[in-house]
Amino acid sequence: MAKKIVLAYSGGLDTSVAVRWLRDKGYSVICFLADVGQGQDFGLARKRAKAAGAVKFMVGDLKSEFVEDFIWPSLKVNAVYESKYLLATALSRPLIAKKLVEVAHKEGASYVAHGCTGKGNDQVRFEVSIGALDSGIKVIAPVREWDIPTREAEIRYAKLHKIPIDVTKKKVYSIDRNLWGISIESGKLEDPWFEPKEDTYQITREIKKSPNKPCYLKIYFKNGIPVKINGKTLSGIALIDKLNKIGGLYSVGRSDLIEDRLIGIKSREIYEAPGASILLEAHKALESLVLDRETLYFKEIVALRYSRLVYDGLWYTPLKKAIDKFVDYTQRNVIGTVNLKLFKGNISVVGRKSPKSLYKKELATYGKGDKFDQSLAKGFIELWGLPYKK
Ligand code: ARG
Repeated sequence: MAKKIVLAYSGGLDTSVAVRWLRDKGYSVICFLADVGQGQDFGLARKRAKAAGAVKFMVGDLKSEFVEDFIWPSLKVNAVYESKYLLATALSRPLIAKKLVEVAHKEGASYVAHGCTGKGNDQVRFEVSIGALDSGIKVIAPVREWDIPTREAEIRYAKLHKIPIDVTKKKVYSIDRNLWGISIESGKLEDPWFEPKEDTYQITREIKKSPNKPCYLKIYFKNGIPVKINGKTLSGIALIDKLNKIGGLYSVGRSDLIEDRLIGIKSREIYEAPGASILLEAHKALESLVLDRETLYFKEIVALRYSRLVYDGLWYTPLKKAIDKFVDYTQRNVIGTVNLKLFKGNISVVGRKSPKSLYKKELATYGKGDKFDQSLAKGFIELWGLPYKK
């Protein structure tokens, strides 16, 4: 009997070729396509998978779980990798890994496969996550093993085996998209000096063509999670989707980063994360109103560590769980509304309010009603500076 293998299938060239390659190696291939909000034609993917020789094809709608269990925890932390990457791709991997393991268990498969190359972070994220969930599962990475050196060779292989692929469109970049953002790399972008052309960007409009009037957004958070936009309650998916659309229109959330991959090389990636960037700014603004200084500063350290942990594929680890617990505790007062202004690529926070606000007008004011006893400052400064007196 053929060995069963569950392949993380994307519908693209690599994983379509992988189906056939695995079949030729004696596996019976179950294609699992994760829907993490990439907005793709699943019918077309099904056709390709079947034509390539898959015995089964399934789509898993992971959007809601992605939002609740991966995006929101990361937002509560304010996780950003190397100052610019809001971790869209990285966050989706442990979720897909979890589903691959679940499908493998259901189907009685002891093998799982992915289409990552041997140079990226994603292979690490998939394999470390799978191992942490079930170390008995064996992982095969066809692209890392096979003798099909170039894209052209892959296309020849696909044609030879009658796998219907779309070669009319020349593939200029490698693009990974989900609800939380888009990652774009390779091709001309491999030159760090090369300025990306406007058509590189998939979901954000060119600044020149964005509206000439600003757009205001009021985002209401409860326990660190956004639940309303302009007074209207929305599901997590709908909320992020809406912000992606509005943010895209106002050209916000682009970044261009030379980043350090886990496997030791630097690479260049273009990111678009309009919704995520808006939420991050809003969340930080609300935290600055409701958290005390020490918690805020400590959270910044935690955010740095957490973003590396996510980037490095260490989602299913004790440290990640422990940080989540700590952060959840800090979020119990992160309730309130942030008013933001989007305009020509900028996100500005212009107002914030909260029932848990620590801002005391009677202490801060330079106007009437001042309750701050300025005479106390003299003694305070005396002691504060005491160790440094000459
Ligand atoms: N550099 C990002 C990461 O490691 C994205 C990787 C995938 N990028 C892509 N364009 N396919 O998380």
